[in-house]
Amino acid sequence: MRVKLMSSVILLALSVGVLAAESSLQATASMSELMTRIIQPTSDAVFYVSRFPPEDDAAWLEMENKTLMLAESANLLLVPGYAQDSDQWLRDTLLMRNAAVAAWGAAKARDMDALMDLNGALYESCESCHNATR
Ligand code: HEC
Repeated sequence: MRVKLMSSVILLALSVGVLAAESSLQATASMSELMTRIIQPTSDAVFYVSRFPPEDDAAWLEMENKTLMLAESANLLLVPGYAQDSDQWLRDTLLMRNAAVAAWGAAKARDMDALMDLNGALYESCESCHNATR
């Protein structure tokens, strides 16, 4: 009983916290700008990795930066103004984030094969959301 009450209080506190955070977050650009200015150029680095393989440390660092930006932009897709209220949206966003986080790991490990292998999963996340929303 007591535990139940405690957990309700904690849940309530958590949801108030989430609401407060949500209301202070807002989209900076349009959805189209988020896609073409951030998501497209950073994901292109992964999609075209076999055509333009990083050849020195600076290029690998650039790949790390782009994959990290891509991973963080998945979080932006959940900000009010960008987010759409559907399970599909959340699922595709998480697909994109997982693929991008893995790509960031591969970039840090300087692992070309892993980056090429992640192409499919990343592409699938874009396509799945676009098919459902555009
Ligand atoms: C969770 C949903 C979602 C995911 C994931 C997603 N997109 Fe999009 N994308 C959209 C929506 C919605 C639009 C339409 C935006 C508009 O025009 O208002 C869009 C539009 C675009 C556009 C066209 C923008 C324009 O105006 O010309 C490009 C390019 C694009 N996305 C690239 C990508 C790439 C590349 C990925 C994957 C790495 C991706 N998107 C992942 C939802 C998503």
